[in-house]
Amino acid sequence: MTSDQANSNGARQTWGTRWGIVLALAGNAIGLGNFLRFPRQAAENGGGAFMIPYFVALLVIGLPMMWMECAIGRYGGKRGHGHTAGMIDSLWDHPAAKYVGALGIFLPFTIATYYIYITSWCLAFSVFSLLGTYNGLQSREQMGAFLSAFHGVVPDAHFASVLTAYGFYVVTMGLTMAVLLGGVAKGIERLAKAAMPTLFLIGAFLAVRVLMFGTPDLTLPDRNVWAGLGFVWNPRLDVLADPQVWVAAAGQIFFTLSIGWGIVHTYASYLGEDDDVALTGAATVGLNEFAEVILGGTIALTAAVAFFGVDATRDIAHSGSFDLGFQALPVIFQRTTAGGLVGCLWFLLLFFAGLTSAVAMAQPLIALLEETWNVPNRRAVLLVCGALFVLTQPVILLKGYGFLDELDYWAGEVGLVVFGFLEVVIFAWIFGIERGWQQIEHGAAIRPSRVFMPILKYATPLFLGGILALWAWHEVPAKLAMTDVPAEVRPYLIGARAMMVGLLVATFWIVRKASLSWGKGASRFVK
Ligand code: ALA
Repeated sequence: MTSDQANSNGARQTWGTRWGIVLALAGNAIGLGNFLRFPRQAAENGGGAFMIPYFVALLVIGLPMMWMECAIGRYGGKRGHGHTAGMIDSLWDHPAAKYVGALGIFLPFTIATYYIYITSWCLAFSVFSLLGTYNGLQSREQMGAFLSAFHGVVPDAHFASVLTAYGFYVVTMGLTMAVLLGGVAKGIERLAKAAMPTLFLIGAFLAVRVLMFGTPDLTLPDRNVWAGLGFVWNPRLDVLADPQVWVAAAGQIFFTLSIGWGIVHTYASYLGEDDDVALTGAATVGLNEFAEVILGGTIALTAAVAFFGVDATRDIAHSGSFDLGFQALPVIFQRTTAGGLVGCLWFLLLFFAGLTSAVAMAQPLIALLEETWNVPNRRAVLLVCGALFVLTQPVILLKGYGFLDELDYWAGEVGLVVFGFLEVVIFAWIFGIERGWQQIEHGAAIRPSRVFMPILKYATPLFLGGILALWAWHEVPAKLAMTDVPAEVRPYLIGARAMMVGLLVATFWIVRKASLSWGKGASRFVK
């Protein structure tokens, strides 16, 4: 039975092949976070100094939560739910459960309002690289001005308005929609099967190319690829006492592995009842980490250190989220042989990474509409993508006023940890770690070590609770009060917050309506 037949006769969609499942989950996880966010976080937090907290967070949060989310997803799928609202409701028999789960619909949808836009910049820059549009812009400052003009913030000789960026956004949104219209097996899985191998090939090529830079300027012998690799890999213990580095490492694990989003759950809900989640989850983590640390670390960080040195790389990372990827690397590639082509490949890599994650972010709401009200796939996709399109307008038009960054802070940083914390408490303490672990082991192709049971029960919630407490104490009050923000920007940030509150309330309302049918049809408490 194909997934489309499955959908039209009321049954749930399923993945087509085992290999396709792993690639789709890897496509979900591997995204802009691996190649833009990780190098920035690592550089800002001390390079090798960041790696110890990062790997601890991977073991205490990333891997066990990936298993947990895959298991929750398969468990929910068996009960007819492709979204966390229904899934958490079937783990915890409490009226609040569905509202906790609603976060796993609200967060990816909100993040998609800006994530797809950023993905479209990657497509645009791959074309600009090939056409040589930014050729001759030899400093980061010049590339920064080019990027701002592209965003329509400060027009220049290249861009008179945001129209070019808008065009690329429309194309990227159209592609996202086209993939989603294909459904789970014929859309998302097909995309992953083509895009993921291509991404790894491009990534491997670029990593080797960067390693061949050697010492780019012989008059500056300290700046070379070995210094770059040393910056990424030489561990430093002195910063381990700084809680901020731990928070940054945990935040990166959430973002990069798509943990705490609700989207791993949705993909796992299309697994068969007895399909493995242990090996699938571990393979997803492994592929993601290879892409992030080996490819992302080597390409962006090593290249930046080889050309600009460690201190300047730190400054670049500190000055903005997109400065390494969209400013430093194009400058570097221009200075090398066939730089236009290499730049094009870099941005294509980002584009494939972004697109395979973007489709995942729309899917939970599509699943909710399809499963609750039998909305046909086509109409559900049009509705969700239409809503995303409308809500991205302020993100595009108010780029210069911090609208995008405000959404990213509350949804892409704080929101993920809040939802991750709540779901791990519900899974390990309310549903029960024994039952939960049985779910993880059910059908497992490898048996995960039981050491992760106490980790998931005690260490993960403690780690996450600690981060939330630290935020609540140090950061959130100042953020809420906007103390560091110029007065003229505040109305836009309030606008971004109002949009998020509106979306959250709307999600709660839809979930409440949907929940009225769960007791009847969806075999809510099938054991
Ligand atoms: N996990 C995806 C990323 O890294 C969303 O961008």
